[in-house]
Amino acid sequence: MAQYQASARAHTNIALIKYWGKKDQQLILPMNGSLSLTLDKFYTDTSVSYDKNLTQDEFYLNGAQKEDPKVMHFMDIVRQNTGFDSHAVIKSTNHVPTAAGLASSASAYAALALAATAAANKKFDRQKLSRIARRGSGSATRSIFGGFAEWLEGTDDQSSYAQPLEYENDWDIRMIAIVIDDQPKKVSSRQGMQTVVATSPFYSEWIKSAKTDLKNIKTALASQDFKHFGEIAESNALKMHALNLSAQPHFNYFAPASIIAMNIIEEIRELGYPCYYTMDAGPNVKVICKNADLSVILRQLQNHFPADHLLVAAPGPGAQLLD
Ligand code: ADP
Ligand code: DP6
Repeated sequence: MAQYQASARAHTNIALIKYWGKKDQQLILPMNGSLSLTLDKFYTDTSVSYDKNLTQDEFYLNGAQKEDPKVMHFMDIVRQNTGFDSHAVIKSTNHVPTAAGLASSASAYAALALAATAAANKKFDRQKLSRIARRGSGSATRSIFGGFAEWLEGTDDQSSYAQPLEYENDWDIRMIAIVIDDQPKKVSSRQGMQTVVATSPFYSEWIKSAKTDLKNIKTALASQDFKHFGEIAESNALKMHALNLSAQPHFNYFAPASIIAMNIIEEIRELGYPCYYTMDAGPNVKVICKNADLSVILRQLQNHFPADHLLVAAPGPGAQLLD
């Protein structure tokens, strides 16, 4: 008997040029292209098992059954793409805090896209998987790939997908996640970006500026200019957070310790160790640095944060099937 079951692992990615707004809510087409680094430390494992006797999908997250309309809707999109009609039992485990700005939705939907299509015996190429993952959560588009990835904004379902960016460099890049709070946030990414697009008076400037940042950060990557690379990433993140402050109603993802962390990173940089921060839809701050400077930077950070709140990640692989 054919086995309609598969498991997959996908790693989270952290955007250095952010996606923060949709031009199509239903297809999840972004207002601007984005660029990210997939991380080895944080990931989601998901298994999908189709059962023709089921009348609806069953979803378990970290061992507990959940009603999640986004997962159900996503499975309908998978069924449209595979032509395989059964419902499934989906079991997912996050090795990353859920909804805390550490990109659980990115690893979640990349893993689910791969597992759910493979369980239907479809072997889609990565571009197609990236497009399917996009329909679950925009940032998942990029988690199909390892290392640096660029999400091409596109104009329709066909043209909006991620691709890997392979640059030769000797940076041996690391990302330190300073875990300030790993509890779910109050304003989801989906809600936050929608409010910003609808109300921020700066939104059209953001789109222009993010497009310029994307072009320039690729030049910095290609020319191995770490300083410029870090400066663009840091500035892009701050512009995204400035949109939130300018929205109606305004909101923000900063905790007092997030601001402290950003100031400390700037101080470490002034000591001569190149390091730059980025922040997503949550209070945790992520620091980009080279492996060669990692131990000094960690030591400095340990003067202010408990060592077990400083999680070091290296570039991680793309989504893969598990045995
Ligand atoms: P994060 O910063 O963690 O990405 P988001 O608000 O972007 O936060 O996304 C969190 C949402 O992603 C959760 O509320 C849930 O709907 C979804 N999610 C997280 N993990 C999983 C998973 N393993 N499987 C399916 N959906 C998940
Ligand atoms: C700040 O991908 O979680 O992390 O597409 O609505 O599911 P939806 O949003 P999501 O938003 C990610 C926002 C971000 C920036 C980024 O990853 O580019």
